[in-house]
Amino acid sequence: MKGLCFLVFLGFFLLNEGVLYTTAKQFRDVLSHGKTSSHVRYHKKLHGWSPDQNNWNEKLYPSWEEGDPRWNDCWRGGRVVARLTTDSPALVGSNVSFAVILEFPRCQKEDNDSNIIYDRNCKNDSTDFLDHYVYNWTKWIDDCGWENCTSNNTHHVFPDGRPFPHHPGWRRRNFVYLFHTLGQYYQKTAGSSATVSINTTNIALGKHLMEVLVYRRGHWTYVPVATASAPYVVTDQIPLFVNLSQKNDRNISDFIFIKDSPIIFDVKIHDPSHYLNNSAITYKWNYGDGSGLFVSNSPIITHTYTLEGNFTLNLTVQAIKPVPCKPTTPTPPYPTSSGTKTPTPATTTNDTARTTNPSANLASPTSASVTEYTPDGGCHIYRYGHYKAVISILEGILEVNIIQMTSVLMSVAQATNTLVDFVVTCQGSLPTNACTTVSDPTCQVSQNVVCESVEITDECLLTIRRAFSEPGTYCVNITLGDDTSQALASTLISVNGGSSSRTAQGVLISFCFLVVFVVIVTFLLYKRYKKYKPIERSTGQAVNHDVLSAYFSNFKAVLFGGSNERDPLLKSKPRIV
Ligand SMILES: *[C@@H]1O[C@H](CO)[C@@H](O)[C@H](O)[C@H]1NC(C)=O
Ligand SMILES: *[C@@H]1O[C@H](CO)[C@@H](O)[C@H](O)[C@H]1NC(C)=O
Ligand SMILES: *[C@@H]1O[C@H](CO)[C@@H](O)[C@H](O)[C@H]1NC(C)=O
Ligand SMILES: *[C@@H]1O[C@H](CO)[C@@H](O)[C@H](O)[C@H]1NC(C)=O
Ligand SMILES: *[C@@H]1O[C@H](CO)[C@@H](O)[C@H](O)[C@H]1NC(C)=O
Ligand SMILES: *[C@@H]1O[C@H](CO)[C@@H](O)[C@H](O)[C@H]1NC(C)=O
Ligand SMILES: *[C@@H]1O[C@H](CO)[C@@H](O)[C@H](O)[C@H]1NC(C)=O
Ligand SMILES: *[C@@H]1O[C@H](CO)[C@@H](O)[C@H](O)[C@H]1NC(C)=O
Ligand SMILES: *[C@@H]1O[C@H](CO)[C@@H](O)[C@H](O)[C@H]1NC(C)=O
Ligand SMILES: *[C@@H]1O[C@H](CO)[C@@H](O)[C@H](O)[C@H]1NC(C)=O
Ligand SMILES: *[C@@H]1O[C@H](CO)[C@@H](O)[C@H](O)[C@H]1NC(C)=O
Ligand SMILES: *[C@@H]1O[C@H](CO)[C@@H](O)[C@H](O)[C@H]1NC(C)=O
Repeated sequence: MKGLCFLVFLGFFLLNEGVLYTTAKQFRDVLSHGKTSSHVRYHKKLHGWSPDQNNWNEKLYPSWEEGDPRWNDCWRGGRVVARLTTDSPALVGSNVSFAVILEFPRCQKEDNDSNIIYDRNCKNDSTDFLDHYVYNWTKWIDDCGWENCTSNNTHHVFPDGRPFPHHPGWRRRNFVYLFHTLGQYYQKTAGSSATVSINTTNIALGKHLMEVLVYRRGHWTYVPVATASAPYVVTDQIPLFVNLSQKNDRNISDFIFIKDSPIIFDVKIHDPSHYLNNSAITYKWNYGDGSGLFVSNSPIITHTYTLEGNFTLNLTVQAIKPVPCKPTTPTPPYPTSSGTKTPTPATTTNDTARTTNPSANLASPTSASVTEYTPDGGCHIYRYGHYKAVISILEGILEVNIIQMTSVLMSVAQATNTLVDFVVTCQGSLPTNACTTVSDPTCQVSQNVVCESVEITDECLLTIRRAFSEPGTYCVNITLGDDTSQALASTLISVNGGSSSRTAQGVLISFCFLVVFVVIVTFLLYKRYKKYKPIERSTGQAVNHDVLSAYFSNFKAVLFGGSNERDPLLKSKPRIV
């Protein structure tokens, strides 16, 4: 009997303790799902955020563990997924932003009043949604009046008891978002998406975790619907990437480029909060080929490698940002206790913690954040970003020219198709494959693509034969390629259907100046060579007049009609592919 009494007493005692515990629930207990252990505590308060030791209103905002079966019933028609994205990495001093987007179960969407409705257009299975609404919050508000039902708007509060801000569109804010990071929380009401920005000035360098917990309006309480978390990085290096591109390069992501052709380096600084907008930014390039140091103010620069081989290119970006002069250099704070299981609240609020020895922190930002006092009285802060890459330079096809187009005469039996031979030359390395794309006169709608491998041993000169079944005007793109490169030449061709004159004539673009130019070029070439020289010796010329040389030969095709099979332009007969 005595023992039973004791047990009953103990039971009451434990129950009481439990009640005490739940009433004293803090934000950090709810928001970090008991994963606080490895959390680093920070003493610097983020602007607009609150310490997560504040008490949590468990009555209005019930909290559920992960795996609690109630999660399955918290939303009609399925589970809501919260997608948390960030624009990290963030340069220290800039803002890092987070966006949460709620994804509703299939066929549900948010309407203009921010109620959730079934999308009537989304019934591929014969499910007919009996009720148009998933949640008609407008109705609840009108019926029960978040104003009238409860005395003094006790519902209109955040989990810490603070009242919702009075926005004009408060009716449309049916979700409560609780963001949690660095031992602090931020709460806001919103519709199906929410964003938050934090200034990283006082955040220690390194990787941190942002967590978000989302509640929806319920009848008497709020109901948790989704959680999400995302890591973010604060760095003292300017986040950047370099987009390398080169004409004729086959694959821009393999870091293999072509010799003797300019490579375009386009530096993209990742600065979504425009922190560096008023900074002086310089780009210092070392291409690794012994060409020395190039300093530029432009993020886009070109460089041509003239040797084959592997080169290490090195870029240093320097940003000089004017800042207000302060008596002391502002230094970001450091974690006061890392890996401590139960950080004491005193540490997190005591400002003297800033004096923790920075040298203990490997990611000390002091080396990169040097405030300099300049003679003109202003102060500047220097930030650097680095980029390094090893690129391979190989020979590649630099250029392709269509120097001639001729129709092929055929016996009557074969005469349904018009055959056209394209004589093509190229500069640079020898191609291993050739593709012909026939498209409409605007060159956009491809009608026919044929690719074949070619074997060329000494000189890049080949003839590609194509059949055209219908008369008309076509755009023909000829691409020659090898492992590293591919180059393209494009021409317009008009195929005559008439059986009498099966000639393929390059169509001259009907701009007068072009015609005049072609005439001049014809004249110059004629004057220079008197007679037609073999094309192989005139390629040097053709390099500069690539397009025109094609037109020039087209022009000639027009002049000389269908007899150009025996064209003196080609001394040695090119291979037929
Ligand atoms: C962050 O705060 C610092 C100091 O208050 C300020 O200099 C900086 O411009 C702010 N950054 C952004 C992106 O607003
Ligand atoms: C919702 O708003 C959009 C644009 O604001 C408008 O075009 C549309 O007609 C509205 N739909 C309804 C049902 O009011
Ligand atoms: C309905 O569409 C979804 C994808 O939108 C598909 O997964 C599902 O199988 C479809 N159901 C029926 C009955 O067609
Ligand atoms: C939802 O609420 C609006 C506004 O009170 C009302 O017009 C509408 O009829 C409601 N819909 C349903 C299905 O109750
Ligand atoms: C709120 O209560 C007042 C007074 O009781 C009443 O006049 C008003 O219509 C109510 N509002 C709503 C939206 O029910
Ligand atoms: C409602 O709030 C006002 C002040 O905001 C207060 O004076 C009043 O006593 C409150 N009423 C109740 C029932 O809590
Ligand atoms: C940076 O974030 C703060 C909130 O921490 C905000 O007040 C400020 O407007 C933001 N600045 C920019 C440039 O986004
Ligand atoms: C890189 O540059 C190329 C050529 O200018 C462009 O097509 C491509 O979209 C760029 N890529 C990125 C990620 O900016
Ligand atoms: C360049 O690097 C690649 C691997 O990245 C290697 O296979 C190749 O042999 C190197 N070429 C030279 C010339 O060092
Ligand atoms: C690349 O730049 C960094 C920083 O300026 C420098 O330390 C390094 O020596 C450079 N490397 C080369 C190969 O130039
Ligand atoms: C808090 O800072 C004060 C001085 O500002 C110091 O005397 C005190 O010991 C500190 N407390 C803790 C817990 O570090
Ligand atoms: C043909 O090449 C031109 C560039 O000369 C290009 O604009 C066009 O898109 C290409 N057409 C096809 C179908 O590939």
